[in-house]
Amino acid sequence: MISFNVPPTLGKELTYIEEAIRSHKICGDGEFTKKCSKWIEHKTGTAKALLTTSCTHATELAAILANIKPGDEVIMPSYTFVSTADAFVLRGAKAVFVDIRPDTMNIDETLIEDAITEKTKAIVPVHYAGVSCEMDTIMDIAARHSLYVIEDAAQGVMSSYKGQALGTIGDFGCYSFHETKNYSMGEGGALLIKDCSNIERAEIIREKGTNRSKFFRGEIDKYTWVDAGSSYLPSELNAAYLWAQLECSDIIYKDRMNSWNLYFEQLKDLENEGFIELPVIPKGCVHNAHMFYIKTKNLQERTDLIFYLKGKNIISVFHYIPLHSAPAGKRLGEFRGTDHYTTTESERILRLPLYYGVTPEVVEYVASEIYKFYKK
Ligand SMILES: Cc1ncc(COP(=O)(O)O)c(C=O)c1O
Repeated sequence: MISFNVPPTLGKELTYIEEAIRSHKICGDGEFTKKCSKWIEHKTGTAKALLTTSCTHATELAAILANIKPGDEVIMPSYTFVSTADAFVLRGAKAVFVDIRPDTMNIDETLIEDAITEKTKAIVPVHYAGVSCEMDTIMDIAARHSLYVIEDAAQGVMSSYKGQALGTIGDFGCYSFHETKNYSMGEGGALLIKDCSNIERAEIIREKGTNRSKFFRGEIDKYTWVDAGSSYLPSELNAAYLWAQLECSDIIYKDRMNSWNLYFEQLKDLENEGFIELPVIPKGCVHNAHMFYIKTKNLQERTDLIFYLKGKNIISVFHYIPLHSAPAGKRLGEFRGTDHYTTTESERILRLPLYYGVTPEVVEYVASEIYKFYKK
């Protein structure tokens, strides 16, 4: 059976985990966490990267830093993972869903302004499949209405928009290192902070409301409880696993990109003949080959294709059920404007096997079976 995803391993993971064990430092913020955070800062140019236990937690941390309160409204697409909304509704805010663009599946930046009220506090662009939202427009709207921008860049590590790394354009950026992501630590993530004035508070919230980070750096002689906080720092064991991948990030990037390009080449004719649609990468966006999807004509055709591919030992999967149609979304959110594309486009998406190390033979086999399905 051809898996949809295989978590990446580059070879040094066990060695580094053993190193952490031998150094008797397996809790958070040891040498491997430092290496990973520095890597993110160096690669992206962000003022500060804090490794977290997940992207969900990075977004929660961002919501606290943005002082999101009960009654606030936060604008986001409905076509996203639950965590995008969870982080804000946990603080009592309402998730305000806006329609997506059919080309990238990202929030339609031209509809955001109509969804803003006096209660709006933040915009959360989600960079679907590692392809950037239209950030110039979004940042301009946010500046004119004094709103925070919190980028859900869970899928956007090593992607950029007009030369800027995703996650560094808004006030805060949230990365995921979940096992399904390009670079992984099992469960994990990172918060990227643009404004240096937010760093100290972020460190405190991440460390149970204490100034322990300052204490470890030798800046104070004892640490104490200074604010409300939580525990968002991952174990060194997870960071050791991640370091084995980040130090080989270019190898992973190239390998995934080759597979993505091969899918695109192999399926281009089917698109030209009008059977399917392929992903669109707008000008100025550099993506990271996080995902390769096709769009079928409709839900029925997608269901038939999933079934057909399964019969050929290929696992292909659909993606998000729009949040506004989910029980919690109905209770805790509101779709503002018209759902022109969110539901219909979400029903057409089919994701194909793509992971570090997938061979050209597998990609060609999957593409050839999709051909056979349409040409039968
Ligand atoms: C768009 C998006 N946001 C947030 C998350 C949550 O990431 P994590 O599992 O690291 O909490 C995911 C995970 O798949 C995601 O795709």
